[in-house]
Amino acid sequence: MRVFVTGATGFIGSVIVKELIEAGHRVTGLARSDAAAQTLKAAGASVHRGSLEDLESLRRGAAAAEGAVHTAYFHEFTHASLMTRLRVLFGGSPGGTLSRFMAATVATDGRAIQTIGRALAGTNRSLVVACGTMAMGPCHLATEDDAPDPRAVGALRASEAATLETTSFGVRASVVRLPPVHGDGDRSGFLPRLIKIARKKGVSATLGDGGNHWPAVHRLDAARLFRLRSKKDPQVADIMGSRKKAYRCERSLRLSDDASTCRLSASRRMKARKTLAGLHRSYPSITRRPAR
Ligand SMILES: NC(=O)c1ccc[n+]([C@@H]2O[C@H](COP(=O)([O-])OP(=O)(O)OC[C@H]3O[C@@H](n4cnc5c(N)ncnc54)[C@H](OP(=O)(O)O)[C@@H]3O)[C@@H](O)[C@H]2O)c1
Repeated sequence: MRVFVTGATGFIGSVIVKELIEAGHRVTGLARSDAAAQTLKAAGASVHRGSLEDLESLRRGAAAAEGAVHTAYFHEFTHASLMTRLRVLFGGSPGGTLSRFMAATVATDGRAIQTIGRALAGTNRSLVVACGTMAMGPCHLATEDDAPDPRAVGALRASEAATLETTSFGVRASVVRLPPVHGDGDRSGFLPRLIKIARKKGVSATLGDGGNHWPAVHRLDAARLFRLRSKKDPQVADIMGSRKKAYRCERSLRLSDDASTCRLSASRRMKARKTLAGLHRSYPSITRRPAR
């Protein structure tokens, strides 16, 4: 299988590339610089020049592949194009720079996922997108059945919603919610930061009695999961097919509420309502939109 990988030179993306190649897949990695292109070639991947903000490059990369993995993200100001940086810096009051940068990262990510999804549309090809557990609410054990909590810090990210949206046009999409990822080469992640603070303060502090848990994953395990999600999986197809069906029912019912656009007979409206209720029962977090 030929897989298009964005963020292929990143901390997680680089091991996903290795994992996919070792499993016999052909990888094309997105590279935005000569250095990134060299790294990808050395890893045995083909190079596709482009960037997160060059939507045409993303479209072409995904269209030529049988599946895509999206891990690229602006984690630093320098990851954005010059135009975006100028807009962030001078597009409003100096106090709003951070929120303008966050908004740019979220919008860029959403557009990138949508573009890749459109390029894969209608073919049941896979799209696996990296996201974070920070979209989960605090104070309870979160599972894959939980929808993102709109009040959580990470819920600002558009990744999950944009990825789910792609299922409505025939993409076999999954989101991998990553906790802090660790492993060789981790210099700026969560653990190195904790270690740095402990070194500086001379003490490794814990909250309360230290019994609290923090999820974590080794980057090699994360890479394996991305590879497995890229493969055909009937259960994933079933869940995502249900999401698509729910979208259609919601849309028909919404249109039928408006007398001017109503084209559904009473019996078909009732059928759509019944189908939607059944989907909500079977896949509550997948088919229900989170309450705002
Ligand atoms: N690491 C963690 O602990 C963790 C935890 C939860 C979620 N995640 C998520 O997992 C994903 C991957 O994280 P990571 O730690 O591997 O990130 P990373 O090491 O910072 O890598 C980011 C990747 O994105 C690429 N990139 C940045 N700006 C780009 C642009 N304008 N155009 C094209 N590519 C661009 C970078 O390319 P260059 O090499 O050219 O800079 C790099 O390959 C992200 O979505 C992240 O938020 C990570």
